[in-house]
Amino acid sequence: MKVTIDGQSVEVEPGTTILQAARMIGGDLVPPAMCYYSKLKGTGGKCRCCLVEVSKGSEADPRPMPKLVASCVTGCMDGMEVNSKNSDRVTEARKAVTEFLLINHPLDCPVCDQAGECHLQDLSFEHGKAKTRFIEEKRTFEPENIGDKIQLHMNRCILCQRCVQVAEQLTDNRVHGVLNRGDHAQISTCVSAAIDNEFSGNMIDVCPVGALTDKTFRFKSRVWFNKPFNAHRECTTPGCCGEVTVWMFGNEIQRVTGRKDQYGEVENFICNTCRYDKKEVSDWVIEGPKKFEKDSVINQNNYTRKLDKVVINTEAQILFGREEDRKKISMTEVPFKKEEN
Ligand code: SF4
Ligand code: FES
Repeated sequence: MKVTIDGQSVEVEPGTTILQAARMIGGDLVPPAMCYYSKLKGTGGKCRCCLVEVSKGSEADPRPMPKLVASCVTGCMDGMEVNSKNSDRVTEARKAVTEFLLINHPLDCPVCDQAGECHLQDLSFEHGKAKTRFIEEKRTFEPENIGDKIQLHMNRCILCQRCVQVAEQLTDNRVHGVLNRGDHAQISTCVSAAIDNEFSGNMIDVCPVGALTDKTFRFKSRVWFNKPFNAHRECTTPGCCGEVTVWMFGNEIQRVTGRKDQYGEVENFICNTCRYDKKEVSDWVIEGPKKFEKDSVINQNNYTRKLDKVVINTEAQILFGREEDRKKISMTEVPFKKEEN
């Protein structure tokens, strides 16, 4: 089947969604996705970020679709023509969805561990408004302890339900889900059970915002002060690939996450032992620095770029501290083994 998105055509298999076809083409025309997750079944259709305009339904029935459709749950038809980035209607709709998602979301990026890798930040950067029209009170929740490894901030949740799918598909004992409905809907554990399962940490990786964060990394560092390295170990947990990204400050591993692709989705899920218990450099074979987009926030501390020389006229003790930090961030003293092929 042939489908055309923003003037670019691609051949796809029957059953391919518009979002998947757009990802096959790549580039700016790929719609943003806050709830769809290619590695999990049954995701998508919740957030409406991925709306597109179908200007021609198919070769057999060329009528346009009257409303914008969610590209992550709409299948391609042969001869279909779609407008994504090219359509003003789509741009307006994405702005409206972003505004809607931000209605109840707090502006606490300065203290949120997800800052720098938050998909809602990226979405607001591209489609958000500088001002809010919302004058009502935002939703608030009683803090809830869901275990010693995962921090839940319910007021940041956008109810994408990815974490529920992780629990459903990766763990054998799901104890949390979406409770209540409408404005009262919230992610919570049933009867306050702690989330305790060898693969539960993956909820942190799939959460697009800072609603589920790693308690063992909490407030340790901003992500852009860490250096991400791909690493692996022989993991004996059944189902764990043992391939991770370690986030380092100096020679200290501050956080371990799954490896994420260009859409921020983990390539393979990892177990909690790899995520929480292996924080020594000697636990891992470090393969080398992780590649990231050149405009990524992680690039902010890339000292390999040529930078203007900055002369700071300040106390020697402060300069000494900065020099020590610089050494740690640029990790000049950390040896890493290159994997032998
Ligand atoms: S906690 Fe995160 S992953 Fe779970 S529904 Fe809310 S935003 Fe989605
Ligand atoms: S990504 Fe399509 S509706 Fe959320």
